[in-house]
Amino acid sequence: MKAKVSIIGAGNVGATTAQLVLQSGLADVALFDVAEGIPQGKALDLTEAASLWNVSTSCTGANDYAETADSDVVVVTAGFPRKPGMSRDDLLQANAGVIKDVAAETARLSPRAVTIVVTNPMDVMTYIAWKVSGLNHRRVLGMGGVLDSSRFRTFVSLELGVSPRDMEAIVLGGHGDLMVPLARLATVKGVPLESLVGKDRIAELVGRTRQGGAEIVSLLKTGSAYYAPAAAIFEMISAILLDEKRILPCSAYLTGEYGIEDLFMGVPVMLGRKGAEKILELELTEDEKKEFNRSGAATRELINKALAE
Ligand code: APR
Repeated sequence: MKAKVSIIGAGNVGATTAQLVLQSGLADVALFDVAEGIPQGKALDLTEAASLWNVSTSCTGANDYAETADSDVVVVTAGFPRKPGMSRDDLLQANAGVIKDVAAETARLSPRAVTIVVTNPMDVMTYIAWKVSGLNHRRVLGMGGVLDSSRFRTFVSLELGVSPRDMEAIVLGGHGDLMVPLARLATVKGVPLESLVGKDRIAELVGRTRQGGAEIVSLLKTGSAYYAPAAAIFEMISAILLDEKRILPCSAYLTGEYGIEDLFMGVPVMLGRKGAEKILELELTEDEKKEFNRSGAATRELINKALAE
């Protein structure tokens, strides 16, 4: 039987992710949205495109959660995106309400799925989704690190004029302004970035990475980035469906790793069919640890705020 991916929220990120999944031929897609007609219209359009992509995957669209039953992967993009001048955290209350509904429904109908949360502020929404769903914490993940790392790789590769494919970099911590791009461990085909680019310039590239989402929001004026986010989600979906055991930075539930408990934070995760199968602990410097903890404290504060409402 073909795998099934349900995507909750048929907006820019959701629909672009659906396109990538269908085009890959890896899984059928169910698109769900509260807006009537939108998921049905986009699903029909995508299904018609599939014949031209020479794949036999198909897409359905619905306003009824029943359509998402028995999914292998559930992607949650439902909610509201940022407007210029807004931080991801400004979306807290509106999106927390959405996520509570979504997580309860999808967990009931697809208890064996791995859930990937994308809605911002993502680390907070991932925690809420896990709490509400009652799912095993290894089966709930947030998408942030893959996107932030791809932005870091892009900016460095533009700087050096090399292919981003040869650039290895990882961004840890929360998917927000306090994220922790690990410049110290970034390499270009094994050559340390710090031996290729000066300290000050690296600091600028790290700063641009931290503001990578905001840079796009301010250009678009309405809405936020979706091509790179969808590509990052797709990388996680394929690692899960193909049981690839890839090591990708994802928001995962920590039970003491990195000295933190009961929080979803961006860390290197081994991704497979069972979700976050292992968390890798990198040795951090004192400064990196401080940044990581600061980012975690900000996430915890927002979780408390969201759950107090
Ligand atoms: N259930 C299902 N869908 C919902 C709900 C809900 N309760 N509330 C809103 N939606 C739908 C909207 O109807 C819309 O189609 O979520 C979709 C969101 O799509 P966009 O507004 O295009 O937003 P998008 O750019 O896709 O971003 C979605 O991902 O990257 C994050 O910050 C971003 O939180 C935002 C999310």
